Amino acid sequence: MASRSESSFHDSANPAPPPQPSPMKGEGVNAPQPLPNGEGVNAPQPLPNGEGFNASQPSPNGAGANALLSSGLGVNQEQQGVAPILRVKQVSKSVASADAPDGRLTILHHASLDVARGEAVALIGASGAGKSTLLALLAGLDSPTTGEITLAGFELSQLSEDERAAVRAGRVGFVFQSFQLIDGLTALENVALPLELHGVADAEARARAALDEVGLSHRLRQFPRVLSGGEQQRVALARAFAGTPAILFADEPTGSLDTATGARIIELMFALRDRHATTLVLVTHDPKLAARCDKSYVINAGVLQPWQAA
Ligand SMILES: Nc1ncnc2c1ncn2[C@@H]1O[C@H](COP(=O)(O)OP(=O)(O)OP(=O)(O)O)[C@@H](O)[C@H]1O
Ligand SMILES: [Mg+2]
Repeated sequence: MASRSESSFHDSANPAPPPQPSPMKGEGVNAPQPLPNGEGVNAPQPLPNGEGFNASQPSPNGAGANALLSSGLGVNQEQQGVAPILRVKQVSKSVASADAPDGRLTILHHASLDVARGEAVALIGASGAGKSTLLALLAGLDSPTTGEITLAGFELSQLSEDERAAVRAGRVGFVFQSFQLIDGLTALENVALPLELHGVADAEARARAALDEVGLSHRLRQFPRVLSGGEQQRVALARAFAGTPAILFADEPTGSLDTATGARIIELMFALRDRHATTLVLVTHDPKLAARCDKSYVINAGVLQPWQAA
């Protein structure tokens, strides 16, 4: 999992040329139209709390990347619910495996789902069912063997790895079971680093504000090793939300925490989601958490189906 997390940080250090969003059925409105000021029509409007670094901060990628970063994320679109932020059609994933009779293991079989802007969606299923594999595909960290995934108007299979990284930059956040903080950096530095890599001028101030939102103003200078599990996950949430992502992917965010701490993390995550109008896609083993989401899916041996709370 470390490599998945790290790749999200490496994205902005290795900016890719901006890909163009796919002219998809019913999604043409997502295409960024250049404005005289060089920003896309969909450039995110500052949120009521003044956050949203894509709107106001220069990007190291230049104007083209500004258009890319601003495409498909407009608050106007979110308010209008114009198009799903994530559309998954008939996605399968198979890998080489010495244990499989034909040398290939199929992990996911023809998975399809839509996630509307602002929705919270849960993915549940037994260990080994394919949840993390699907999440990595949805976030563009991995490529499907067959099928289409459209994230914020970009059909990911049309893009190179670097281009997918450019799509993720500034619009996708991650939270993992194992926190994935950088040991040698303080809490403040862990939150500020991705912002700095994105060229955000007031990265430290924003990181402080994000840590304040998760109740950690008094722990800014601490290193991860001295923080409790719950505190580390709060730092990870601050890091994820500080970038005001349009969509947050969380892989068992409470899986390493005791029940009470996990419940507090979930409350915090939903509060941040409400505040920032973030779309959530959560992998969880907790049916109560799944029932709290707007919709849920279960994966059984790589087969994805809608799931209803009992
Ligand atoms: N690159 C790979 N090569 C071979 N097998 C893989 C690969 N990636 C995943 N798998 C297998 O695919 C299956 C699904 O893995 P995945 O990590 O998606 O499960 P999961 O549902 O997230 O499980 P858990 O709840 O334990 O985290 C597992 O059997 C795993 O061993
Ligand atoms: Mg997993």
